[in-house]
Amino acid sequence: MVMKIADEYRPQVVSNTEENRNLVVREYCEEKDKVSVEKMERQCDVGQKGKPSIFTDLLGDPICRIRHFPLHVMLVAEYGEARDIIGVIRGCIKHVTTGHSHHVLKLAYILGLRVSTNHRRLGVGMKLVKHLEEWCKQKGADYAYIATDCANQPCINLFTQKFSYTKFRSPTVLVQPVHAHYKPIGSGIAIVRIPPHVTAKVYRHLFANAEFFPTDIDAILSNKLNLGTFMAVPKKLLPKWNPETGILPQSFAILSVWNTKEVFKLQVKGVSKLTYACCMGSRLLDSWLPWLRLPSFPDVFSQFGVYFLYGLSMRGTNGSRLMKSLCTFVHNMAKDDVGCGAVVAEVSQQDPVRVAIPHWKRLSWNEDLWCIKKLADLQEGECERSEMSDWIKSPPSSAGIFVDPRDI
Ligand SMILES: CC(C)(COP(=O)(O)OP(=O)(O)OC[C@H]1O[C@@H](n2cnc3c(N)ncnc32)[C@H](O)[C@@H]1OP(=O)(O)O)[C@@H](O)C(=O)NCCC(=O)NCCS
Repeated sequence: MVMKIADEYRPQVVSNTEENRNLVVREYCEEKDKVSVEKMERQCDVGQKGKPSIFTDLLGDPICRIRHFPLHVMLVAEYGEARDIIGVIRGCIKHVTTGHSHHVLKLAYILGLRVSTNHRRLGVGMKLVKHLEEWCKQKGADYAYIATDCANQPCINLFTQKFSYTKFRSPTVLVQPVHAHYKPIGSGIAIVRIPPHVTAKVYRHLFANAEFFPTDIDAILSNKLNLGTFMAVPKKLLPKWNPETGILPQSFAILSVWNTKEVFKLQVKGVSKLTYACCMGSRLLDSWLPWLRLPSFPDVFSQFGVYFLYGLSMRGTNGSRLMKSLCTFVHNMAKDDVGCGAVVAEVSQQDPVRVAIPHWKRLSWNEDLWCIKKLADLQEGECERSEMSDWIKSPPSSAGIFVDPRDI
């Protein structure tokens, strides 16, 4: 999933040739670069003029979005005699399934590309991507992928036209605001916490044919950002089922919760005074009169955090109802966590869980575009036979996509 960031027009201040002469791409050094990177990114996170935009605060840690991957890097583009930082890019590498016959490959994820608004359209973005791809190849990555808002034309053009990435999958991002009131969980439904070692076993089984399932799932589940895995089951099945066995009941819904609140905070800026007043008014009313169950809007105009749902799966005739209850349970968990403004999930468009996840259409977006490219150089002939080359051409596997919470 990618935060919606729009391009903004600013006058270009240097020429392309001058830019290239004075441009150095190197690895980020926390001690030296932290302040300049934060300053540059603050200025970058703006939307189109006159439209609301989302500001992302990385909480003083520019590598927070990649540090949970064992293999990661952040590069900076340094310009001029003053060695100003005018661009950044991050990358990480993991092993994932392709959804076909348990095939696993080494995949690089490229994220957090930003170029200072004063230095755009001068080839800085291209230089950063080129250097990052070289790092990925050195580390043995077979493929690289990026995720972007399907309306982010500069990013799409850069990757598809200049680096031959292919538009690959377009999962849906579903956003549910956290109200001031608790929501009722369906009757006859029990919510059970599943321990990480059992969850790992269950996910390996449920996502055996899914794309992008990370082989280091155990590390994700034992990460301190993981708030737990929960399963909704009909209460009547409880006496006959022991969650510790990892054997699945006939009907269930399962998901895990990732606390992105500790990684970054978001803030909406640029809304009209009327919109602001309506949102804050609905919130006040909901707090005062919770029994009315008003669909109030949280204070997203101050910094707020998000719970991300992953590993969503359901089975059985009651699956959809169980999934709704599970999402309601997480909503209530988020309501108890001060500063958590939304519960977010990302699922493949074909995934049946999609219709069971409560969300606000206006806040959600239909297409988070994932573009992919094969990096590994295969010999002719080898390429034709290889499962690696087939992945780009293959339709989504029936089990859909596993969205890694670290990618958010
Ligand atoms: C996307 C972004 C990184 C591009 O950086 P950049 O340094 O301006 O890109 P480059 O100068 O290297 O441009 C390379 C190519 O990208 C495409 N591109 C870049 N900006 C574009 C724009 N505003 N409109 C259309 N295409 C654009 C073009 O194909 C361009 O080649 P061209 O100049 O020969 O037409 C920059 O606009 C940015 O920081 N945007 C905000 C954050 C963001 O959206 N990040 C991307 C997340 S995937």
